[in-house]
Amino acid sequence: MTKSIVILGSQWGDEGKGKLVDLLTDKAQVAVRFQGGHNAGHTLVINGEKTVLHLIPSGILHSHVTCLIGQGVVISPSHLWAEIEKLIQKGIDFKNRLKISGAATLVLPYHVALDQAREKAKGSKAVGTTGRGIGPAYEDKIGRRALRLCDVLDAARFEEKAKELLHFHNFVLQNYFSAEPVSLASVLEEGRIAREHLAELIDDVPARLKQYRQENKTMIFEGAQGTLLDIDQGSYPYVTSSNTTAGGVASGCGYGPRYLDAVLGITKAYCTRVGAGPFPTELHDEVGKNIATRGNEFGSTTGRPRRCGWFDAVALRRAVMINSLSGLVVTKLDVLDSLEEIKIATGYEYQGQQLSELPVDTDILAEAKPVYETWPGWQCTTEGIRNWSDLPKAAQNYLNRMAELCEVPIYMVSTGAERKDTIILRDVFEE
Ligand code: GDP
Ligand code: IMO
Ligand code: MG
Repeated sequence: MTKSIVILGSQWGDEGKGKLVDLLTDKAQVAVRFQGGHNAGHTLVINGEKTVLHLIPSGILHSHVTCLIGQGVVISPSHLWAEIEKLIQKGIDFKNRLKISGAATLVLPYHVALDQAREKAKGSKAVGTTGRGIGPAYEDKIGRRALRLCDVLDAARFEEKAKELLHFHNFVLQNYFSAEPVSLASVLEEGRIAREHLAELIDDVPARLKQYRQENKTMIFEGAQGTLLDIDQGSYPYVTSSNTTAGGVASGCGYGPRYLDAVLGITKAYCTRVGAGPFPTELHDEVGKNIATRGNEFGSTTGRPRRCGWFDAVALRRAVMINSLSGLVVTKLDVLDSLEEIKIATGYEYQGQQLSELPVDTDILAEAKPVYETWPGWQCTTEGIRNWSDLPKAAQNYLNRMAELCEVPIYMVSTGAERKDTIILRDVFEE
């Protein structure tokens, strides 16, 4: 029986990971975030009530689920505390079931200032980041100078290190970007919030995971962002600054790869991307607008409109390979309900050559033209369907073709934002 399941995005993020983690944690005891920060926005809809989570794992609404945040995550103390307070206001009591690694890197005000100054300076070449300081925080970590959650415990030591880092970052902000410096008070305030509210949640995450494994608990590892935004595997430099792919689980929470039983890749029935960077199947026409409107494609974190396009089997095959996907979960099928015909990119063409693999050179990817096959639409509602046999034949054919092109089975199909709007084809827990 499968016990440790990874749920991750196999496109450019916002595939519906939050919904799926919430659904699957009905049968699990533990949910773990292993990378990313509050650049993520994971939406859960239960009986019409919407909850958007940024740092807290999407299992939190189940009172039997313990949520862990691993050391691969970057944490903004004020954002995490605000998220906790919001849930407490909603009546969700979880102090004893939220545990955070003391080794997690902190996102501090100078990271936000640097992120925004850098994007502004890049002008038309900007990455289109969420502006939340994620990249600069990971840079500090890799540069071996970051402040971590455990550093807030000793206020004097925190202040000493913060002063040094502030001096370093303010130098760049003022002299290179001609931007305003960040105040020491704003950094110390983050330390205070972390000390007063988050310090008591600090735990040894790898040791806790070992204990849970020995207790035979079922665990869901929740990815943020998506495969094509991975710092090593994505469309660099238009990526985030962490490993969003399956390999990130082991390093990001201290749980060895041999312990993982299944990896499910969440994919929309089409594609979206928010922020800049190549997107071969992007639509600039009425069909794209129709998908954006029906899919309500606006970022859960920044509210920015998401770019929309056809399903890209070349990119998905890459995600299957990189993540060793056991299978797919296809979401937002209902968004395609009104379309007369639906296209799938099966390859690319670049300077007269056929490409069957996603090129790693971002300039080539930006120039690559998709080669499409066209499938008839179903033009009737699939919203809320919970059985495969109730799907129109054309929708079944489309889904079967997705699976065939990606060479992995489909485990689930999502037909609405609600937890219950889901077709379950294979039970990942029973394999
Ligand atoms: P995440 O970042 O991967 O968790 O995804 P987001 O929450 O950012 O974006 C997914 C959006 O689609 C959210 O608004 C969900 O409520 C919604 N959603 C998820 N699954 C479905 C579905 O099958 N159909 C429709 N119409 N909406 C869905
Ligand atoms: P979830 O977990 C979609 C994108 C940004 C930008 C790039 C770098 O909700 O799927 P960053 O702020 O991380 O330095 O921005 O990554 N991005 C996301 N896109 N969903 C997300 O998270 C994202 N998190 C970051 O738009 O292109
Ligand atoms: Mg999202």
